[in-house]
Amino acid sequence: MNAANHVEIYEVGPRDGLQNEKQPISVDAKLDLIGRLAKTGLQNIEVGSFVSPKWVPQMADTDHIVKALPDPLLNYQVLIPNMRGLDGYFAAVEGIDHPPKDIAIFLSASEGFSQSNLNCSIDESFDRALPMVDAARKAGLNVRSYISCVTDCPFDGPIAPERVATVARRLSENGLDWQSLGDTIGKGTPDTIGVMLDAVLSEVPAKNVAGHFHDTNGFALQNIDVSLSKGLRAFDASIGGLGGCPYAPGAPGNVPTETVIAHLHAAGFETGVNLDDLMAQVEFAKGLRS
Ligand code: HMG
Ligand code: MG
Repeated sequence: MNAANHVEIYEVGPRDGLQNEKQPISVDAKLDLIGRLAKTGLQNIEVGSFVSPKWVPQMADTDHIVKALPDPLLNYQVLIPNMRGLDGYFAAVEGIDHPPKDIAIFLSASEGFSQSNLNCSIDESFDRALPMVDAARKAGLNVRSYISCVTDCPFDGPIAPERVATVARRLSENGLDWQSLGDTIGKGTPDTIGVMLDAVLSEVPAKNVAGHFHDTNGFALQNIDVSLSKGLRAFDASIGGLGGCPYAPGAPGNVPTETVIAHLHAAGFETGVNLDDLMAQVEFAKGLRS
């Protein structure tokens, strides 16, 4: 394998893809989806979030999901915003042989989205997350960080690249240099993504950065291409293009995993994912939508 040609895919369908669904989806159906994804060669799957069930009811069963995950060797990830969420994670995984070892915090480059999504300012979101990150690391967990609204915010409009770079630097200064950059409402263009990446990559090496593209205007693949040209080799995506954020009005689905993988393979990259096997699961995933 040529390492420069390997692209790591983070499947976020079971979390980002389903979190916005209004009708409850059963634990069995979610586990069925995760089991199907786990057989396609995907190595990283985000399976849920320990957030307030009042804020995101669809994720309220994440404790049941983490208890019954298939294929313990995969890298499963859960979102956790605060100490209360980490306590929920610890309670859920007690006694399990192979609990998910990857957790993700999520912050915003825009104040408006921070307030909407986390009910606090960016500064406060650091204050909440950092003690939790410390406790998580002491327990041997790996911590990824999402930065949302890296080019545009549904409340604050265009976001200056320097603001994103400031959040990225602050994360790095706290040892959080595994970062995923979210175009939360899919308004980024190759130009705005490129300029934003130039700013962020002056703070964090490209090998530690992932692109997380929602696809409102159909620019996600071009945004992936510009990211590849800047050295990124990791992307988040959601099977069937499921997704949307309940606290980002207008946020559409994530770029579909199968589209990203077909695009990457055609361009000579390898992902370790079997595209035929993945395609065979797309209808099942879409069928979970109400
Ligand atoms: P808050 O109301 O400010 O928090 O919400 P609080 O500390 O005042 O607590 C209020 C109540 O929630 C209390 O319960 C807490 O115990 C409970 P009560 O006393 O009222 O019964 N609570 C919790 N319960 C379970 N788990 C927890 C938890 N924390 C508090 N972890 C909070 C703050 C962060 C909790 C809330 O804003 C929240 O849950 N936000 C999550 C929103 C969310 O999940 N959004 C989607 C994920 S982010 C995303 O999709 C973007 C991404 O894909 C990247 C991109 O696209 O850009 C990652
Ligand atoms: Mg997202």
